[in-house]
Amino acid sequence: MDQYRHLDFLRVTESAALAASKWVGKGKHDEADQAACEAMRNELNSMEMDATIVIGEGERDEAPMLFIGEKLGRPGGPEIQIAVDPLEGTNLCANGTPNAIAVLAAAVEGEGYLMHAPDCYMEKLVVGPECAGVVDITVPARINVRLMAKALGKDVDECIIGILDRPRHQELIAELRDAGCRVHLVPDGDLSVAIAALDPDSGVDGLMGIGGAPEGVITAAAVLCTGGEMQARLKFTIDGQRERAEKMVEGDVDRVFRTQDLARGNVTFAATGITPGDLLKGVRFRHGSAYTESIVMRSSNHTIRRIETTHRLAINPLLDRRKRN
Ligand code: FBP
Repeated sequence: MDQYRHLDFLRVTESAALAASKWVGKGKHDEADQAACEAMRNELNSMEMDATIVIGEGERDEAPMLFIGEKLGRPGGPEIQIAVDPLEGTNLCANGTPNAIAVLAAAVEGEGYLMHAPDCYMEKLVVGPECAGVVDITVPARINVRLMAKALGKDVDECIIGILDRPRHQELIAELRDAGCRVHLVPDGDLSVAIAALDPDSGVDGLMGIGGAPEGVITAAAVLCTGGEMQARLKFTIDGQRERAEKMVEGDVDRVFRTQDLARGNVTFAATGITPGDLLKGVRFRHGSAYTESIVMRSSNHTIRRIETTHRLAINPLLDRRKRN
């Protein structure tokens, strides 16, 4: 990804976040999702590139836009693979609760790679740069948290691990608490929590547990950009998922996937906050302007940019879209 083009993706996640923000707290899941998708798709289509969606809203027959394999962009640019989640945390947006974000990862064909993940679950272990190389998803969580505490120079009871609040995580939560660790339970949005874990200032030291595999690949792009570490295992819960994974994924689908198996080479990651969260402020409105906070990262040089943008709604075409809603 060249040094200028990757910033174009910032506009893409900002647009999706602004569109979804209209629906924050209104209990309208589908409307929020559709608004974010439409805005993201319009922006992607305005960019000069030959883009293919590798992770999106689903298969062609189940998703009207941003489906896997959809071609986007204006003629003339490079071939780019794009993994999108226009509204990560649909419930969070509808309920007006923290951590809803608009997010994408992109890789220029031949220079970078994003795994084409099936829509199944994934067990994830994500840690920041200080804990890279010390954890192992195949050992019990209580051991990993001890290793992390040592690497971070603190006690286990000063460590905070983010976990999705799901019945399937009861044992994991109990094991970590028994070990003395603090658990940060979130109702949805493990991608936001994983990315927070990559930031030493966020207070979250790691992410553990099972969430979506597509979100896992986008997470891996962020991990690659920051120098943290991700380890993962695919989890199949529905008939046919294993077979589908075997068609989509190179090699043994039961192996431990490391960061580089999920995302490698030259990739870009961009995210914009919709509701306030561990990682980013949400969209705020005041006196005819909207304010967004985003993060844009590039793996080639590990640049991490946090960008606050003021959108003057009266002179921004987004205003028209918002009026139509
Ligand atoms: P959506 O925005 O698609 O609803 O995803 C939210 C999310 O919480 C993800 O962050 C997470 O990876 C996944 O759902 C977990 O799935 P489940 O709700 O089935 O446990």
